[in-house]
Amino acid sequence: MHKRYPMINHKYLDLTSMKELPESHAWLSLDHELPSHNSSTPDQVPVINLKDPNAIKLVGHACKTWGVFQVTNHGVPINLLQQMEAAGRKLFALPMQQKLKAARSPNGVSGYGVARISAFFPKLMWSEGFTIVGSPYEHARKLWPNRYSRFCDVIEEYKEEMNKLAQKLMSLMLGSLGVTMDDVKWASLQGSSAALQLNSYPACPDPDRAMGLAAHTDSTLLTILHQNNTSGLQAHKEGTGWVTVPPIPGALVINVGDLLHILSNGLYPSVLHRAMVNRTQHRLSVAYLYGPPSNVEISPLSKLTDQVHPPLYRAVTWSEYLGTKAKHFNKALSSVRLCG
Ligand code: SIN
Ligand code: FE2
Repeated sequence: MHKRYPMINHKYLDLTSMKELPESHAWLSLDHELPSHNSSTPDQVPVINLKDPNAIKLVGHACKTWGVFQVTNHGVPINLLQQMEAAGRKLFALPMQQKLKAARSPNGVSGYGVARISAFFPKLMWSEGFTIVGSPYEHARKLWPNRYSRFCDVIEEYKEEMNKLAQKLMSLMLGSLGVTMDDVKWASLQGSSAALQLNSYPACPDPDRAMGLAAHTDSTLLTILHQNNTSGLQAHKEGTGWVTVPPIPGALVINVGDLLHILSNGLYPSVLHRAMVNRTQHRLSVAYLYGPPSNVEISPLSKLTDQVHPPLYRAVTWSEYLGTKAKHFNKALSSVRLCG
């Protein structure tokens, strides 16, 4: 089992006021394996124009080889991305005391707090987060007792647009494997669950020893990530190592998550990724975590399995898988793997 660490008490340090990196946040240099730079054959995360007539093929290839890609012409209005970013900035700029009024409860999922994966690492991460599952109103009211409606409107509109894009992506990702959406009944408008995860990475006095968000795969079917124009996201590719996913104005980053890995019977690997920090710029990201309805069991699609390709994973619901992940962390996928 993956080692779990007790949560360090001073997890709610106001990072923006720190002049030095506290010991609680100082990682070992071996946690910072550098991105690979091979200038003759630069290996870059694919950027796919969703209006390209070949988009379905390009998406399938990116999912098989990387598990991550960026999309342009995705249909989400740019001004909505900007409004979401501004709403996130406003939230994280609130005084710590105010943010703590909306703190995530110990066993809860929604609210303000440190990265949930912190429990698996001996050091804390240079970031703060805010998770929204379902309606944003309850928490928004605690943050802005009299002026919460604008924030909520932006969140609701953003979730709606992300849901549309997630379905479009699912049909491309699965279509490329010869699977239609009719083969996956629950992948319809009403048939999904999702969470919104806002991440803030303040400028850091000692970025080479700090970690914004430690390496992990997402437990989702897919994740749609908007990052502001500050670099920090890195993806890991087998045989290449860590590669920076550069911010492209208006583009969105798409991660294959563990549940899509299972659904595709391992054809699409879920991508290992992490976020680094820097000395001068505040980085912000907004992740839309897209998964199946809570009562649906995910297992390798029957169209993708036969005697030569037996199912590699057992059936799991999203919440069951999250429970497994909370115990085994990056070994969660192998812990639901069948023999063979
Ligand atoms: C995440 O993995 O949830 C966020 C990554 C990022 O901030 O780029
Ligand atoms: Fe992630």
